[in-house]
Amino acid sequence: QNRALWGGRFATETNELVARISESVSYDHRLYKHDIAQSKAHVRMLAKQGLVTAEDAAQCTSGLDQLCSQIENGTFGAFDIKLEDIHMNLESRLTRLVGEPGSKLHTARSRNDQVATDLRLYLRDEIQLLISLVRSLQRVLVTLAEEYAQVIMPGFTHLQHAQPVVLGHYFLAYCEMFDRDAGRLEDTLNRLDFCPLGSGAIATTTLPIDRFFVAEQLGFRHGPCRNSMDAVSDRDFALELLAAISISMMHLSRMSEDLIFWMSQEAGWIELGDAFCTGSSLMPQKKNPDVCELTRGKTGRVYGNLLALLAMMKGLPLCYNRDMQEDKERIFDSLDTYKALLQIFREMILTLKPNQERMFAAASDPSLMATDLAEWLVRNGVPFREAHHRVGALVGECTRSGRRLNELTLTEMQRVVPEATADCLELFDPLRSVQARNIFGGTAPEQVRSQVAFWKRQPWF
Ligand code: ARG
Repeated sequence: QNRALWGGRFATETNELVARISESVSYDHRLYKHDIAQSKAHVRMLAKQGLVTAEDAAQCTSGLDQLCSQIENGTFGAFDIKLEDIHMNLESRLTRLVGEPGSKLHTARSRNDQVATDLRLYLRDEIQLLISLVRSLQRVLVTLAEEYAQVIMPGFTHLQHAQPVVLGHYFLAYCEMFDRDAGRLEDTLNRLDFCPLGSGAIATTTLPIDRFFVAEQLGFRHGPCRNSMDAVSDRDFALELLAAISISMMHLSRMSEDLIFWMSQEAGWIELGDAFCTGSSLMPQKKNPDVCELTRGKTGRVYGNLLALLAMMKGLPLCYNRDMQEDKERIFDSLDTYKALLQIFREMILTLKPNQERMFAAASDPSLMATDLAEWLVRNGVPFREAHHRVGALVGECTRSGRRLNELTLTEMQRVVPEATADCLELFDPLRSVQARNIFGGTAPEQVRSQVAFWKRQPWF
């Protein structure tokens, strides 16, 4: 019979419905490994400080190891919701397993510093995994950029054809964005790398514990949290993570939006592998970019998690409040969603096949080279505003007479742009146009290749 660990003060058992709303073990059981690691470091410290005997510590340690294997090989059995969370489930089981030494484990510890520590330990591992998944997505983008450094397509602003670009340049744009996402995750990791343990419920303890020893045992880069009230109160590290994930999901979502359009019949610029598309239950011909749409949809859900956590935290008085238990499902959900999509996206874009002819044809509309003509005029002494105006007038005239810029004769062009020479008639070639943008950061295949080389030199590549 499990009795509540706070039973001393209470005359009756927790109401059944309260127990159900109050429990978190159905989801925070994922913290078991980190909770066990924490307890082992804690009890080692208690022994070092003479607060428990070496024998007590040894019993707890081996008991905790046994519980860990039981959870992993499925023999632990059910968690008890009356024991609320993973912390009390493990402590109670340990005491059942090893007897009295187990009842000493919680010396100088509160679930408030315990959960804050578990969460930081857990997130430390998760963030490292996220960073490696982002890096792996970046590697694929760089590989694709190299392969498609010369594949020409229209670049858009306002979803209107703007100037020709190469597909490799597009992929490297996302490589940049994911690089900043990885940086945000690294920053989050660095800032959360302090150990709350030893903060107790709010004000540490009267017992002579060694917080520095525990922090070191648990590998916290910056040692123990400096302020016990802060340590048990804030979840800003989780918010920062959910914000970083939200921003990165925004990047995945925007890329999805492009891929959906590129795969439409209107564009017809890419194919995605069958394994990453789904069909229709009614229309036999359909092949839909559902992964991209789900990414877009799940981005909203991940934003929701961030907002839920912000809203949950904003009115809480210091220090710990039970409201904060609501953080975990939001955090886990964002982690699961983001992790899955990073992997799926990486695999999916490896199956992307561009239709180079259609892309090139779309980029060959000579009006996409209007800027090239204006800049030719600048090189021949015409002030940019004037050049812009005259080329604009030329485009307007073409639009009215239903002709394309490259169909004008030199004489016709000179009527609006007197400085024009035969060279101008050569400007309406998209390959020449991208090659001419041979400026650092530009879309010229040579620039794209040198950016590819830059990425390949990164330590994570
Ligand atoms: N399950 C709780 C949480 O996730 C642990 C801390 C509970 N502390 C308390 N005093 N009720 O936040």
